[in-house]
Amino acid sequence: MSRKFIVGGNWKMNGDTDQIVEIVKNLTQLPLDPNVEIVIGIPSIYVAYVKSIVPNNVAVAAQNCWKAAKGAFTGEISAPMIKDVGAEWVILGHSERRIIFNEEDDLIAAKVAHALESGLKVIACVGETLEQKDSGITEEVVTKQIKALVPAIGNNWQNVVLAYEPVWAIGTGKTATPQQAQEVHAAIRSWLSTNVSSDVAENIRIQYGGSVTAANATELAACADIDGFLVGGASLKPEFVDIINSCN
Ligand code: PGA
Repeated sequence: MSRKFIVGGNWKMNGDTDQIVEIVKNLTQLPLDPNVEIVIGIPSIYVAYVKSIVPNNVAVAAQNCWKAAKGAFTGEISAPMIKDVGAEWVILGHSERRIIFNEEDDLIAAKVAHALESGLKVIACVGETLEQKDSGITEEVVTKQIKALVPAIGNNWQNVVLAYEPVWAIGTGKTATPQQAQEVHAAIRSWLSTNVSSDVAENIRIQYGGSVTAANATELAACADIDGFLVGGASLKPEFVDIINSCN
């Protein structure tokens, strides 16, 4: 299989200088599987600092950005700024952005388009709520979220990773079972094959996110259509290294 496993850490709004030094020490001193691509998503105020201290085999992501390069957008950061401080990635469309900050598909698509045009790589997140899962509309919800991104991505699929993150699994300790996750990942790939191209479907990497731990990573990683993880809580702990190393 040609899809390189990719593990992302999403620190969310966590970390201070002391904790960052600790986390980066782990990532520097412990051996990391060279067959796994590693990206850590940092609160914007620390992106430049983290970039200046992480080892070369760990890429840095912002967790959000605005849809324009500069201007009168108090409080926002832009994709060119993220690039300017040496980070290569941005996480967009996370369910916390969608739900807490009311970001809708069209805004997320505009952000994705702008980030890609600015030369960043994008981890684009999709996922259903518990209510949607219980109504049996998981695939419908997730493919609608992806459909909104298709024109924004254009010919840039090689710079995009999708993260399937069921909202009910995020921060809850309730991980999707490998069967549940694999089923949705396979459905996403099949939708992409029909609606974008078989090439994109085959090559796009789809991460699973939602209460990933060192204890469940190996089993999830063994699923045919799971190509990595987006890890929240556990990415702040030494366990993150175990997750990276349990994938192959
Ligand atoms: P979690 O978060 O691993 O803490 O569930 C995952 C995410 O929100 O990306």
